[in-house]
This record gives sequence, C-alpha cells and structure tokens, in this order.
Amino acid sequence: MNVPGNPLILAIESSCDDTSAAVLRGNRVLSNVVSSQEIHRKYGGVVPELASREHQKNIVPVVDVALREAGVTLNQLSAIAFTKGPGLMGSLLVGCNFAKSLSMALGLPLIAVNHMEAHVLAHFIQNDDGNALPELPMLCLTVSGGHTQIVLVKEGYSMEVVGTTIDDAAGEAFDKAAKVMGLPYPGGPLIDKLASEGDPHAFSFPVPQVPGLNYSFSGLKTSFLYLLRDRTEGNPSFMEERRNDLCASLQYAIADILLRKFRKAISMYEVKHIALAGGVSANSRLRKEIERLGEEMSCFVHVPPMKYCTDNAAMVGIAGLIRYQKGEFADIAVRPITRYENFPGTG
Ligand code: KG4
Ligand code: ZN
Repeated sequence: MNVPGNPLILAIESSCDDTSAAVLRGNRVLSNVVSSQEIHRKYGGVVPELASREHQKNIVPVVDVALREAGVTLNQLSAIAFTKGPGLMGSLLVGCNFAKSLSMALGLPLIAVNHMEAHVLAHFIQNDDGNALPELPMLCLTVSGGHTQIVLVKEGYSMEVVGTTIDDAAGEAFDKAAKVMGLPYPGGPLIDKLASEGDPHAFSFPVPQVPGLNYSFSGLKTSFLYLLRDRTEGNPSFMEERRNDLCASLQYAIADILLRKFRKAISMYEVKHIALAGGVSANSRLRKEIERLGEEMSCFVHVPPMKYCTDNAAMVGIAGLIRYQKGEFADIAVRPITRYENFPGTG
C-alpha cells in the first residue's frame, strides 16, 4: 500500500461492548488498547444501556493509554477516525462524540468508518512479522455476532456484499446454542474450547437449502434445540454427558455451512486471495478449514492475528487510513447510524 507521509491516526471503536483506541503510523499499528466489558456476562448478552455507560467510563483512560503506549502526543496526530456504525446507538454515540470533540479541539480532520468495512480491511495492517498483504480482488468471509457476509473487495477497496444471512448471524448461532447449554455469554470461545475434546461427527444437522450465496442459521438453532429436548427426555443428564460432542458437532456444522457457500463464491468470482474476518474468525475449526479450502482452490489465505479478529480500534485505524488517502473526511455534523441500508455506505 502507498502511504504518503505516513499519517498518524488515532482510531476509536465503540460499536458494541468493547471500548478500544489505537494509534497507527501509516499501515503500522503503534498501539491497540481494548477494554472488554465484563458486566454483560451475568445477563447472557449485551445490555445496551450498560454498554454505553461503560464506554463513557472507559473512553478517556483507553485513549490515554493508547497514546502513551504509542509514544505519541495529541499535537502530533494527523487525523481522528471513529466507528460510525453499524452498532448500538448509545455505544456509538460515545465514540462519535468523543472523536468529534477531539477533532474540533485539535483542528484535525475527522474520518467516519463503517465497522464491517473495518473488519475486512484489518487484513491490510502491516505487522512486524512482514505479513504478505492481500491483493485485490479478494473475497472475505466476515463472521461476527451480528453479521455473516461474503464481501467482494475490488480494486480501490470498493466493496460489494455478494452473500449474507437471511436470519441469524454465525456468531449468534454459537451464542444461542451456548445459552441453551447453560454456558455463559459469549458462547463462541467456550464452544470452541469444549469442542476440542469432542467428536465432530457425533451428531449431524441438516444443511440449510438457501439459494445463491446467502446463509441461514435459524434452522440449525432449532434442530439443535430439538435434539437437546428429545435426548434429555430419555436421559436427564444427556447434556452434561455429551457436552463436548454437542459443541464439536455444532462447530462442525457451522463451519461446514459457512465454507460451502464460500467455496461456491470463490468459483463464481475466480479470486486468488481469500480472507476470514470478524469475531467468529477466532474459531479454531474455521481457521483450519479455510486453510484447507485455500489449498484445494489454489488461493492465498489471509487470516488476521486473533487481536484483529474481535472488535478493536486498529481495524478502524486502517480503514481510516484508506479514507484519509482518498480524502474522504466526515463533516463535524456527522451522526452515528445503527445500520447501513447500503453496504459499505459512504462512511
Ligand atoms: O466481531 P465481534 O467481536 O463482535 C461483533 O461485531 O459482533 O464478534 C463477536 C462474536 C460472538 O458471537 C462470539 O461468540 C464470537 O464472535 N466468537 C467466536 C469465537 N470467538 C469469538 N465464535 C466461535 N469461536 C470462537 N473462538
Ligand atoms: Zn465486529
């Protein structure tokens, strides 16, 4: 990537339940601080009102630590980037208003970033290990708690969603299945851990019949629920006895559904670079299987380091850099939006 003048960008992410700030010099990350809100665990999901209050408490210390870790002072910055949406309104407002105030106080350009675009662009961060950056066009499977998308990234970083879920997101399928098994939120990481001790072929679930490149996960959720109900009737300790097998089989089914459509998309668009993004890309089976798919389809596979998979401000920073280079700045009157009608939106 051509990075004229290597601008210093302060990026802020507050779309859901992680308060994060990062400082980037060009496409390199100098600091990336994430404060995850533990308060939601006992409620089995994110409570929006609590999330915005936590962001208010965290935002100043998180930005402060990010600047200090980067060894950068406010007057050295070139621009401020923040997540405009999609996300929870109360949470987004905290990051947006903080970014606006700072940009006004310092007289710096403001950059509004689409959170889903940022997950995809995390692959363009240059790490110290000299990672090979993806070449365009690229297909990215973006899987998070709220989204499941196959995104075609074209020359100039313009994006098109070529497949999406018609109901639940992949992360939601993990989280909801975890909830019915009595596991704490977020369930994805725990299912991944328990699955490592289980048999992925112990139970099988029907593959959803959805046309084109779209996904559906509501059927899987229902058949998982019915399996538990039916088998618990005959054996009340079924769930405890077979928890690892249940987790392994569910994880197998979700990865299988995701990669079947992704394989189809790779054939349709004939790309040579493929990628995985979003919180669910931390899943060990999905990471392994996409590598196998890359070998089978002769594609370069790009999987970001774990710290750039779940929500973080470094990805907002790299998306901000690309907009900075294109001269796409936000007006001070910019307001957050909970969902984009047209992806990827105009920032
Ligand atoms: O991208 P993200 O951090 O937040 C959203 O924008 O949604 O994704 C969070 C989602 C949650 O549903 C969580 O259960 C899932 O990512 N997740 C995982 C794993 N780690 C996080 N799902 C499966 N396996 C994992 N290892
Ligand atoms: Zn996310």
